[in-house]
Amino acid sequence: MAANYNNSAWFYDRLSRLVYGRALINAQVYLLGFIPPKSKILIAGGGTGWILEELAKIHSSGLDITYVEISANMTALSQKRHTGENTVTFVNDAVENVRLPAGFDVVVTPFLFDNFVDETVDKVFYHSHNLLKPNGLWLNADFQLTGRWWQNVMLQSMFVFFRLLCGIEASRLPAIEKRFDAAGYNVIEDKTFFGDFIVARVYRKQSS
Ligand SMILES: C[S@@+](CC[C@H](N)C(=O)[O-])C[C@H]1O[C@@H](n2cnc3c(N)ncnc32)[C@H](O)[C@@H]1O
Repeated sequence: MAANYNNSAWFYDRLSRLVYGRALINAQVYLLGFIPPKSKILIAGGGTGWILEELAKIHSSGLDITYVEISANMTALSQKRHTGENTVTFVNDAVENVRLPAGFDVVVTPFLFDNFVDETVDKVFYHSHNLLKPNGLWLNADFQLTGRWWQNVMLQSMFVFFRLLCGIEASRLPAIEKRFDAAGYNVIEDKTFFGDFIVARVYRKQSS
């Protein structure tokens, strides 16, 4: 079953701020700082679209953004965002099913992979990988477990909550690092948030 956040669209941001404060936002804003001017960007699973407004604060024009979101309600909210002079193309579909011309300078996957079982992770990962240019940047934010007991409690609570409400398929974190390693990505920089529970990482694709 797809991880479709339709049912949570109207309260998702409020809930995430209640639980995590600004940590989810800070992790993504940190990543956005690496985006070069005039980039062609793929954002997959952007949720309510606040990331578009944060992006417009950094680059008010010149970006060519393709915004792919599986939830119709999330997409509708995203379409109301102020995106400055940037060009945004909205696609309401699962990113792995969308045929797009390759050649993106940047791929952004914010809290996307932790919704998926391994099979979907592979589909989404390799699909996005093929759309990214050689030397392109991949900005990924996700949860991680670093051995603190409360992390597992929070993670399992999220899985149960979003499985019941939104039908997410995951029940454990995928080994996403392994995919980036296998595909030859280099880690440029990373930063953790919320007591290491959140990691935002900047990867560069190999030159060929
Ligand atoms: C955990 S939420 C994160 C939302 C947003 N990135 C944020 O941090 O506020 C995951 C989002 O990914 C979307 N999503 C899930 N599977 C997807 C897929 N295969 N393609 C595109 N979007 C997807 C969901 O609808 C949801 O909006």
